[in-house]
Amino acid sequence: MSVIRKLLDYNRQWAERLKSEDPAFFAQLAENNAPELLWIGCSDGRVSPDRLIGRPLGKIFVHRNIANIFAMHDLNCLAVLQFAVEVLKIPDIVVCGHYGCAGIRQAIEGHSVEPVDLWVEPVRHLARRQRDELANITDPVEKTNRLAELNVAHQVRNICRSAIAQQAWEIGQPLAVHGLIYHVEDGLLHEVMPSVTSAETFRALTE
Ligand code: CO
Repeated sequence: MSVIRKLLDYNRQWAERLKSEDPAFFAQLAENNAPELLWIGCSDGRVSPDRLIGRPLGKIFVHRNIANIFAMHDLNCLAVLQFAVEVLKIPDIVVCGHYGCAGIRQAIEGHSVEPVDLWVEPVRHLARRQRDELANITDPVEKTNRLAELNVAHQVRNICRSAIAQQAWEIGQPLAVHGLIYHVEDGLLHEVMPSVTSAETFRALTE
């Protein structure tokens, strides 16, 4: 059986199962798009948010790219944030990195002008800024994992620094930004930093 045939078969069975459990399920979802969380994660197939945090369909607004970067110059990232905050009024944003991230490894090892290398340039730049701490870590896996944590914190700061987040806080709209790291080997998420819940807590973090 071809891959596409298999996935269409699976999809039909899945939709039928949900409809048999709750005949109004899809009709209700179609009417009401109200996600509770914006998830910015890595494209890595092992870090699929719906599976990790058990939220039902429709609850997570998702943006994924290599190495879970929130690039301030990237229209895609900015559009996702603006839509999530200004239109959907999502109150919580999670940036989730993971250990063993090939994108982070590429930022350490790669030096070409291939698209992947260009994309992870902000992580390479971060590694340069944090080189004193990273130089003390001799194990390459540990070094990559530490940079993955630093990268999450950096992307959280980028989101908090954006005009979109700053304006939400200014008008009193609830918005919290959280930084998580996922351990591929045991399936567990951990916080890498305190959540940022206001312009004041962000300022305290960066001072
Ligand atoms: Co990754």
